[in-house]
Order: sequence, then C-alpha cells, then structure tokens
Amino acid sequence: MSKEQAKDRILELRKELQEHNHRYYMLDAPTISDYEFDMLLEELIKLEREHPEFNDPNSPSQRVGGTVTKSFETIKHKYPMLSLSNTYSREELEDFDARIKKLIEGDIEYVCELKYDGAAISLTYTNGHLTQALTRGDGTQGDNITTNVKTIKTIPLSLKGDYPPEFEIRGEIFMKLEGFKKLNEDRVEAGFEPFANPRNSASGTLKMQDSAIVAKRPLDSFLYYVMEDRHSAETHYDSIIKAGEWGFKIPRQEKRYIAKAQNIDDVFEFINYWDTERHNLPFEIDGIVIKVNNYNLQEQLGFTAKSPRWAIAYKFKAEQAATPLNSITYQVGRTGAITPVANLEPVLLAGTTVKRASLHNADQIEKLGLRVGDTVFVEKGGEIIPKIVGVDETLRPPNSIPVEYITHCPECNTELVRKEGEAQHYCPNEYGCPPQIKGKMEHFISRKAMDIDGIGSETIELLYNQGLASTVADLYQLQYDELLGLERFAEKSVTNLLEGVEASKQIPFERVLYGLGIRYVGETVAKKLAFHYKTIDNLMNATLEQLVDVDEIGEKIAQSVIDYFADERNRQVVENLKAHGLNLEISAEEQADMTDKLAGKTFVVSGVFSKFSRDELKKAIEKNGGKNTGSISKKTSYVLAGENMGPSKLQKAESLGVPIISEDDFIEMIS
Ligand code: IVH
Repeated sequence: MSKEQAKDRILELRKELQEHNHRYYMLDAPTISDYEFDMLLEELIKLEREHPEFNDPNSPSQRVGGTVTKSFETIKHKYPMLSLSNTYSREELEDFDARIKKLIEGDIEYVCELKYDGAAISLTYTNGHLTQALTRGDGTQGDNITTNVKTIKTIPLSLKGDYPPEFEIRGEIFMKLEGFKKLNEDRVEAGFEPFANPRNSASGTLKMQDSAIVAKRPLDSFLYYVMEDRHSAETHYDSIIKAGEWGFKIPRQEKRYIAKAQNIDDVFEFINYWDTERHNLPFEIDGIVIKVNNYNLQEQLGFTAKSPRWAIAYKFKAEQAATPLNSITYQVGRTGAITPVANLEPVLLAGTTVKRASLHNADQIEKLGLRVGDTVFVEKGGEIIPKIVGVDETLRPPNSIPVEYITHCPECNTELVRKEGEAQHYCPNEYGCPPQIKGKMEHFISRKAMDIDGIGSETIELLYNQGLASTVADLYQLQYDELLGLERFAEKSVTNLLEGVEASKQIPFERVLYGLGIRYVGETVAKKLAFHYKTIDNLMNATLEQLVDVDEIGEKIAQSVIDYFADERNRQVVENLKAHGLNLEISAEEQADMTDKLAGKTFVVSGVFSKFSRDELKKAIEKNGGKNTGSISKKTSYVLAGENMGPSKLQKAESLGVPIISEDDFIEMIS
C-alpha cells in the first residue's frame, strides 16, 4: 500500500468508525456487529502504527486510553464555570418567575432539564476536534483531564455537520446505576473500598492517572450548555438540538429528559412528573434545572457573582429522618480497613427501619462535627446504607464532646496507620488481628473460592477461638477427635466438615489462588494469573515487570502480588497448602486442553444446553483464551445460546448484530 493509499484508508476508517460509534452509543441503532467493528478498529490501529506521520489525537483508536498522567495541569476557564442557585421549595420557584417578569415584559419560555448528578465538564472543540476537557475545579480554573475524557464513548472526538469553528460546551459526566453497581461488586471482590455513590465514582474515575482504566469504567455524559462568543442559535433549546446534530449526547425530548415550558405551571408539571419518575431512571438526578430559553433574554438578565439570574435548580428532597446517635463503633475488615459505623436510635425512613449509618472515615466524622448524643439527620440516596447528612445542633446535649477518632485497633490494639492520600485508617497487624485472620479464612472457604461444605463463618469463629486454626492451611490439619464435642459439633457435622475440607483439595488452582485473598486479586485476576503462570512457583518468582506485562494486570495488582509473596508467612502458608495436596498448578489435563483459539473473544452464555452444563461451557471458553461476561453489549463477540434463552437477550443480540451460536457451533469452534 502506498503512503497516499494508507492515508486515504486511515481517514476512511476513522470516519466509518466514528459513524458506527455514534450509531451504537447515541442512537442505540448499530448497523454492524461487534466483531466487524473490532476488525475495522484493528485495521486502523495497525495502519496508524505503520504510519505514525498520520497520527491524530482524535482518532477513534484513542478511545482505548493508555496515556498515564502523573498530575493534571491546571488551566484557567475561558468563561468561569458558575453554579446554579438552588431551591427546595415551589414558592421560591414562583419568586424566581416573578423576579424575571419584573425585569422582562411579556411571556417567558423556559426549558426544563434534569439535574444530572455527576461531575461537571467543560469541553473545547477547535475545527470540529476535541482539544481540551477541563473539570470545574474552583470555577475559575480546572484540571486538564482531556486524555481521560477521550475514552468516554458518548463524547465525540470529532464533530459532524455545521459546527462553529471554535466553541466550548458544558455538561455532566456520570455513571449509570447498573454500571456503578457492577463496578462496586468487582471492587469489593478485589478487596477495594466500594464507591459511596455514582457521583463519587464518576468524579473519582475522571481523576485517575491511567486512562486505560478510565476507558473500562462505564462513564456516560449529557451536554447541557453551548458557549460561544456569539451564539449561532437564538435559543438554548435550539443550541441543544444543534449540538445533537454535531454528534453530542443530548437529553431526549421523547423521554421527557428536556421540555419547553410556556409558564411556571408547565414547569411544576415537569417537576411533578420527575418527582416520582426519577426513581425509574437508569442514572441519578438530584433535581430539575429551569432555564430561560431565549439567549437575548438570558443576556438581559445576566449574572450575580455566583450564578446566572436566568436559571435555577429545583432540588428534590431526599427522604430524611432525625434520630439520636447512640454510639460509634469501628469495624475491621478482612484487609484491615477501619469503617466507623453510627449506631442510631431506630427510626423509620422510606419504609425501612434504620439502626445504623455508615460514616465512611475519620474525615466524614470531623466534617459533620459529630458528638455522641447528637440528633442527626439520616438520608437514603443512591448509597448502599443510609448516611448521616447533618446534625441538629439545637438539640445537642450539654457537656457533650466531639468524637475523637480511634488511634488503635478496636480488636487488637495495634496503632492504626493511614497512608498518604488515603481516606481510610488501617490496622497493619495483618497476622495478629482477629477479624483479619478470621476474614482471610472466611474468604478462603467462600463459595467462589474453596466452597467448603460444612464450614461457615460461625465455624471459623469457633475454630479460631479454640486455637485450632489461624491460617487457611490449618484447616487441613483438623482432626476428628479435636472437633468432636466442640459446641454444635456432633459426629455427623464433624464428618461433614472433614469431608468438605478433603473435597476442596480438588478445587482448581485458579480458585485456590483467588482464595488466598491477595489484595486486588479478584476472581478474574486470579484466573488470568493462574492460566498465565500455570504454577504457583512461577507466579511467586515473577518480577514486577513480568507481572505488569500480563494482559490486564496493572501496577497496583502486580505490586500487591509481589508484596504478598515477599512475606515469609505467606510463603509458608503456600508451602503448607502444597504439602496438603491442594492444586497449586493448572492440572496437566487442563494444560493440555488450553489453547488461544478464542483469544480476544468475549462470550455471553445463556439458556439450557444438552451436551454440557453452562459452567462447563464457560470453563471451555476460558481455557481456550476467551472471556465470559454477563450481559450483551457491543463488545460481545458471540452469544452462546441454549434452550429457553430469554427473549430480551435474544432481541438485544439481534439489534446489536452479535452473532448467536449454538452449542454445536461452539464445539466446532474449539475443536
Ligand atoms: S446548567 C451557569 N444544566 O449542576 C450554570 N447544570 O450548580 C450552568 N448540572 O455543577 C449549569 N445538570 O454540573 C445545568 N441540566 C443541567 C445540569 C447542570 C447538572 C450541574 C452542573 C453544576 C451544577 C450547578
């Protein structure tokens, strides 16, 4: 291929991929399959690599991320990023309307929008290309997070249509609830703290140093304001529609995400609708934004020091209750992380009785200025457990004193540590702190790890208290006689326990590895490492560089693996497990079965099969280098369908053009 031909093909591919991205993410109407998309993308990446002279920072190939930013540059906003004045009451909205009518004669048309609960972003486009993305920062200057924003699929890198040569557009980056939930599940499984709510996870993700990780997080966007030196439309509404034509994700009118309102009654109607309907949205909103539609009128109304006079936010009240704070207790997790918990006088909130609220960390307690005996306000939002949002200081008992955060572990009295930049305190006494010791064993016996029948967390508690087990290897030394006669242990239960322990020796290496509970090594990572290194000895001897080289293993995970095996106590546990005959390498059969026939392919297995069980099929996918996921997306290569696959899945696969294959097709694929 000549240089000219390569250039033409690169440009053609970029245009095509951009169009397919738009069809998939914005219109929900793809016309090619995932596989075809990936092939085009691969072709582009290859050509770009061969011809670096045609590189373009806005090529669709940039979506995968990869740039690491050590610290974000601070840049001044061209126009300050103001906030909105807030109100919680309808009277104040009527006042807002009245204030405007005083300044402007005639009817006023408003635009009502959802107030998305995420992180504000300001994007600059120059000649149709995204050139800069800034956070709000302090309103005057923000962080340059362009490399991260480029990985968000609904943010166009290049525009189409008749866009202005240079303009800024503002909007909100957020995480949908489903993606948030999944992300948190994965985090907990890998030993990370879960994010408190979707907003935190969106803003936290935007500030990550490694854009390749950002690319994998399910971030989404809505754009809500076009800023130009001279507006090219007459109204805000028309600008939004135009922005949609240029390729931005804008709120859909059919879904009532945005609506014009001819008067304040129309505004109230919109608010009433979303007051209940918001609970059915796939993302969180915290209110409604009302804007004067006409730009000339907006200009006439102008700004106060902090916010525009032509707009206001009506915020929904989260359901709240007031109740006394009885005490604060501190929980120690499996990884030693300390979580303060508020014990409340039970109170009814949104249909359930609330007795406890999470306080997250020391900063939170200090920010609230909590004192035991205080009457506190609890709220239920998108959080997992309710949170305390404030204190009623008028009801504060005399002589109360501010809460002092503990300095020592409530379980083992070791002095707590708090690493720089981390919010959480940790108990560093990993091998001497009971909840950490028991937590490790509980994790080891759990269903996804060794799945030992006959042992639950109560048994672990008992074994530990009796001095019978303090590492996972000790479980394999338990004797019939020492167990018999323990509380709740009769012959039958002792036999069960011992048989369960014995049976667990058949559990494959990847699950044993997961069971060790190495920080950040969740189920998926454990599989990756097990299949890559094949034996625990290989893994123990791997260097940091070698680990980072493994597909999908980042520095944080790699370092954690290194740290784990650097500790003599852990090596000893591994040696003991080996001596007891656990699988610490991929079995010879498994190794013989392993291929990379399905490398890079993602499967969704659904339905009932006749020749193999679903789990067997999933395992076969992994052994051949493929990957299993739960839900069908553009990234799915194949849906492996059995009998009785749900109609919605079928429909989704068809609409996305994902090939649906049968059990026989699959067997042929790997044979
Ligand atoms: S308009 C001049 N529209 O709410 C201000 N803001 O306090 C222009 N927000 O952090 C803002 N949804 O990020 C506007 N539909 C919407 C919004 C919205 C969420 C956020 C915005 C800002 C805060 C305003």
